[in-house]
Amino acid sequence: MTPSNSGDVPGAAAGAARAAKYSPPVPRWLPGAKAAIFLLATVPLLRLGVYGLTDRLGANPVEFITRSTGTWTLVMLCVTLAITPVRRVLGQPWLLRLRRMLGLFAFFYGALHFTTYFWLDQWFDWASILRDVSGKRPFITVGFAAFVLMVPLALTSPYAMARRMGGRRWQRLHRVIYAIAVLAILHYWWMKAGKNDLAQPAIYAIVVAGLLGARLIWALRRQWGQAFPGSSRSPANSDSTVSRSRTR
Ligand code: HEM
Repeated sequence: MTPSNSGDVPGAAAGAARAAKYSPPVPRWLPGAKAAIFLLATVPLLRLGVYGLTDRLGANPVEFITRSTGTWTLVMLCVTLAITPVRRVLGQPWLLRLRRMLGLFAFFYGALHFTTYFWLDQWFDWASILRDVSGKRPFITVGFAAFVLMVPLALTSPYAMARRMGGRRWQRLHRVIYAIAVLAILHYWWMKAGKNDLAQPAIYAIVVAGLLGARLIWALRRQWGQAFPGSSRSPANSDSTVSRSRTR
């Protein structure tokens, strides 16, 4: 679900030779770690199931489910966005192999969140849903826009789709995740602003601003390096082999 490098989209933009050269080695324990992270990411869903079965969803179960799924959509989005910066800072290329799965979990919780809204909250009252989405409740308009933008990213997340689209087009499309993150923060902020309770949205806003800011700085440094290849500040001179392979 995110802009990727040639190691993440096999055979896409870079071509087989470059991919072979730059593809990071896959540690043997990675499939196990991936399975563990998969299970961990399903815990919020299992928790909702257990709470539902044991009557622990509180006085307003629909609100509980809406808020829980909304929070986990945002958390998964942040974790997905964090993969590239963390990989670069720690120099751990295998982290890229987790990004697609985490992005799909963000979409999964977003779909549950939206389903809770139109099913349990609105009971398929499409006229009311249309009013909310078209501006009556602006925080819902913005949340809906974020979710709609997630759909093409989820649909094009399989490797086969990336191959068919071509790496460059795929990467360009998947940059939409930055807009999704900004809209998601706006959605949360707007919702909480009505209740004068901005502490938590502010924390998420700082995290997202930091993650997007780091990418912006790296992108500017890369452009600087391309414009002035001999410069000592050029990332082409300072970065590792892997990060040279057009990583975002
Ligand atoms: C990327 C997509 C989205 C993200 C990240 C997101 C995130 C969130 C978050 C973090 C909350 C607040 C949770 C809390 O109070 O702790 C929330 C609440 C809510 N969201 Fe979303 N949301 C998204 C999309 C949507 C969509 C598509 C809809 C409906 C069309 C929607 C409707 C709501 C509603 C009704 C609430 C609860 C408001 C309340 O309790 O007063 N959200 N969302």
